Amino acid sequence: MIELVNLTKKFKQVEAVKNLNMYIEKGEIVGLLGPNGAGKSTAISMLSSLVEPTSGDVRFENKSIIKNPASFRRVVGMVPQEIALYTDLTAEENLHFFGRIYNLRGKELKQKMDEVLELIGLSDRRKDVVKKFSGGMKRRLNIGVAMLHDPEIIIMDEPTVGIDPQSRNYILETVKRLNEERQVTVLYTSHYMEEVEYLCDRIYIMDKGNLIASGTKDEIKQILSSERTVSIRTERLNEAFIAELKENPFVSHVTVADKEVIIIVPKEANMFVEITRIADISNVELTSVDIKTPTLEDVFLHLTGRALRD
Ligand SMILES: Nc1ncnc2c1ncn2[C@@H]1O[C@H](COP(=O)(O)OP(=O)(O)OP(=O)(O)O)[C@@H](O)[C@H]1O
Ligand SMILES: [Mg+2]
Repeated sequence: MIELVNLTKKFKQVEAVKNLNMYIEKGEIVGLLGPNGAGKSTAISMLSSLVEPTSGDVRFENKSIIKNPASFRRVVGMVPQEIALYTDLTAEENLHFFGRIYNLRGKELKQKMDEVLELIGLSDRRKDVVKKFSGGMKRRLNIGVAMLHDPEIIIMDEPTVGIDPQSRNYILETVKRLNEERQVTVLYTSHYMEEVEYLCDRIYIMDKGNLIASGTKDEIKQILSSERTVSIRTERLNEAFIAELKENPFVSHVTVADKEVIIIVPKEANMFVEITRIADISNVELTSVDIKTPTLEDVFLHLTGRALRD
């Protein structure tokens, strides 16, 4: 349905997106994951023809839409990372304003507005000015705006950043429902692994402008099928212990967090003995050693050497 072909965007100094290849099939929920500055928003802006690519192509139903975005715009709803609403207007007035931009009017517009307000759970707040809304409510209204013209495809750029858990769940549920009940195709951008894990059929992972992994959730976890994540907890960590772990030939990544050290090791290595030995020589008392099967978060750690969230 949608294809990105060798899509590249260079800003003066930065190459924000490098030779990106992606596809989205009709009816899928596709996740686009990556840390800050990965190039997610830039990729999405090119896809929705808000930013012109330096090179490469975006195709919708096998036709390039870079020069001719009108047909694509009609079927896509874009929820930008920055909230775009008129805060002095009410929820209803905002929907009315944006509805007119989509060429909706009269009875049809009114009906769409009712439907959207119901969908985003703001029917009872329709007469309130947006500046009195919480961050989560503004987000929901922003999603409502993108849904006014019944898009077949919805592109969401980090729709749950910085909002309360209740609104967050509401948004996740709404996306799922739109996909299941109306077969809306979704591209969902996030740096929350658990959201992508819950929502998405397929996942692309970007870092520093590059695609570093893609596939179904299981395929991506397969990347680590020969490795294990080990979580080591202690009451008091010391430098010697961490240095020893880093030097150990079996250990590929070491992440330190408060009282926990997470390492990645080959599946077959008997790390329990090794860790106890290292703890002994560096005078660290272990509270627990947990060997886990990898999560998507671990895959990210493995691929980039960094945690997904700063
Ligand atoms: N208009 C612009 N001019 C110059 N550089 C830009 C512009 N937009 C983005 N960049 C740069 O391109 C890179 C990718 O940015 P982008 O916003 O696409 O990342 P992102 O993955 O969406 O990050 P975040 O999770 O923080 O939203 C960054 O280094 C950013 O500074
Ligand atoms: Mg972004």
